[in-house]
Amino acid sequence: MSRIHEALKRAEHERAAAPTADEAPGAEAIPDRVRRDAQAPGRSDTAAAVASSIFTQTLVAAPPTEHLTLESLRTHCAQPHWKLLPNINVFANPSVTAHAAEQFRTLRSRLYQIRGEQQLRSILVTSAVPSEGKSFVTSNLAQALVRQAGRSALIIDADLRRPHLHVPLGAPSSPGLSEYLRGDADELAVIQRGLDEDLFFIPGGSTVTNPSELLLNGRMKTLLNRLMPIFNWVIVDSPPCLMVSDARVIADLCDAILLVVRAASTPVASAQRARQELQGKNVLGAVLNSVESGSSYGSYYYDYGKPKE
Ligand SMILES: Nc1ncnc2c1ncn2[C@@H]1O[C@H](COP(=O)(O)OP(=O)(O)O)[C@@H](O)[C@H]1O
Ligand SMILES: [Mg+2]
Repeated sequence: MSRIHEALKRAEHERAAAPTADEAPGAEAIPDRVRRDAQAPGRSDTAAAVASSIFTQTLVAAPPTEHLTLESLRTHCAQPHWKLLPNINVFANPSVTAHAAEQFRTLRSRLYQIRGEQQLRSILVTSAVPSEGKSFVTSNLAQALVRQAGRSALIIDADLRRPHLHVPLGAPSSPGLSEYLRGDADELAVIQRGLDEDLFFIPGGSTVTNPSELLLNGRMKTLLNRLMPIFNWVIVDSPPCLMVSDARVIADLCDAILLVVRAASTPVASAQRARQELQGKNVLGAVLNSVESGSSYGSYYYDYGKPKE
């Protein structure tokens, strides 16, 4: 029997024996990157079958995404050209936004203090209502974190209802989290690295009609379990917690929560209700956003203190 015929036979046998991702709940789908390779137009059926056989064996033995490292991500993830919007990226134009940059450094120090006392690697950023600055805080906090030598951070846009975080970063919007959660793409396909070699980003991806179901299908947990050990910090942007349940769902997968409150904007009652919504979860405190420099607040960061339970 020729080697190609043997490979075809083996591929056929393995396809018949192996459950598909749909048949095996919780199992990882074969990465899209791999499927695309094996099904590339112009390939003969024989070549595709041989490729499929090789990939099947490789995936069963050692799925590559389970062995991701920071180094392999630096080399293999997408590296598009990011164009940071200068007015809302406080480190992009330090002469104009020096005060705001300093507040993010202060927030960074507070997080390191807390990290000395508890496990703290993944942080969910949420707020009561829209437009309080969740995405602004997520993106600038992550940039503050990677400005320290040897620190890496991953930003995830998990606001699947209004995935806009790519806009201030000037980054492509997809493929992103929605493609990953649907099983249409793997980690390497959705992670981007931009200007800084230690700052990585998963955009929200294309619009979906069922964000809650996607966030509950188990793949968000898989994603965080795989990526958390690789990065020093994982900062997750989310929808407002008073409007939908998504933030609470993701909060259960993260170490802690930061609540954003916009000065002179967020109604006090909404901020209080948001805090109640998150009762029982590890809320570190609140970031008071949009405070004029020199205002009597004195600091961007205001610690609500631990809830009394
Ligand atoms: N401190 C700030 N200074 C200047 N612009 C801000 C600030 N915080 C938020 N913004 C702007 O306000 C708008 C809403 O902020 P965003 O972060 O998108 O809110 P959210 O993610 O909570 O809906 C955006 O255009 C953002 O750039
Ligand atoms: Mg947002």
